[in-house]
Amino acid sequence: MSSVRFGIMGLGRGRGAAKQVVAAEGSALVCVCDLQEDKAVEQAEMYGCDWTTNYKAMFARDDIDAIGIYTSSGTHCDYAIEAIEAGKHAFVTKPMDILVEKCDAAIQAAKDAGKVLAVDFGNRYSKENQQLKAAIDQGIIGQIFLGDVKMKWWREQSYYNGGFPMGWRSRKETEGGSIANQGVHFVDLICWLLGPVQEVYGRSATMTHDIETEDITIAQLTFQSGAWGLITTTTSSYPNLGTQVEISGTKGTVRWDQRGGIEVMTKDEELVDLSRFEVPDAPADIAEDMVSAITKGTAPVVSGEEGRKSVELFCAAYASSKSGSPVVIDQR
Ligand SMILES: NC(=O)c1ccc[n+]([C@@H]2O[C@H](COP(=O)([O-])OP(=O)(O)OC[C@H]3O[C@@H](n4cnc5c(N)ncnc54)[C@H](O)[C@@H]3O)[C@@H](O)[C@H]2O)c1
Repeated sequence: MSSVRFGIMGLGRGRGAAKQVVAAEGSALVCVCDLQEDKAVEQAEMYGCDWTTNYKAMFARDDIDAIGIYTSSGTHCDYAIEAIEAGKHAFVTKPMDILVEKCDAAIQAAKDAGKVLAVDFGNRYSKENQQLKAAIDQGIIGQIFLGDVKMKWWREQSYYNGGFPMGWRSRKETEGGSIANQGVHFVDLICWLLGPVQEVYGRSATMTHDIETEDITIAQLTFQSGAWGLITTTTSSYPNLGTQVEISGTKGTVRWDQRGGIEVMTKDEELVDLSRFEVPDAPADIAEDMVSAITKGTAPVVSGEEGRKSVELFCAAYASSKSGSPVVIDQR
């Protein structure tokens, strides 16, 4: 195969994906699509590609191999399935979707069609995060007993009122809330670093915004390893304090700060130099990842099965919040 030919749908966050496709080796941006013509035209002019406001027309083209989906969160897997059924490989932005059943249907569709399905989680492409994973897997902080995420972000009401279709971030049919939208980056990170989750006890509420979705969630976790976890996500905290993840083991602690990098402190070494942990060469972003998966048959960095895990976790937190009881989940 010469270049992998891409179409990108949804040109809010999808603009970043279009840029990555243009920059990646062995990849070509053939078409961009947005319901809002001005956005599609602007990107097409920037990159010299075709544009359309009709995604079905883009999916039907036989000069496109892979479709990237960057629309509202509750639509990702429906569009991925349509793209796969049209004979394309597909990738979706985070979260994979807001319902586990939709993730399952997309995973099955990709399996049946023999197509690649991937989820675009930026943190997974970071070399430093991969070195941290290697260090944890090699026991640098010993047996982990606690992992916690503290995401204290600020979002104006206008953020929820905006987007396209207008207000999608505020509605339950298209978005979950702070843990599903913003927090899912860190849910994915902690599940990746600590392994499968067994039980979730969650509480969610809408504290400060006029929205159907939640703006605060607290989820208490038990990992299959026996470690405990605590995830706090809110978009009601002014000013935006970013996100911190801390992982405590019998030999030391990891402190991961969205703004300030990673510190690993152990009893043996005050501050561990993560650069000594070797990791295999990996794609730098979703475009390189898809090119490699399609042309070399490598597993995508975040497959459908992997992307489903964070959806399962936040759905369990929501279900627990509703019922008042912990939810047992069966993550493999
Ligand atoms: N860092 C990240 O990974 C990151 C950052 C922001 C958003 N996101 C995700 O990206 C998705 C979109 O978020 P956003 O902030 O860009 O939203 P947005 O509302 O700003 O943009 C969505 C775009 O999709 C277009 N669209 C919707 N339905 C369409 C259709 N049927 N055909 C063609 N175009 C369509 C809209 O016109 C709009 O331009 C969400 O799932 C969000 O969680 C990821």
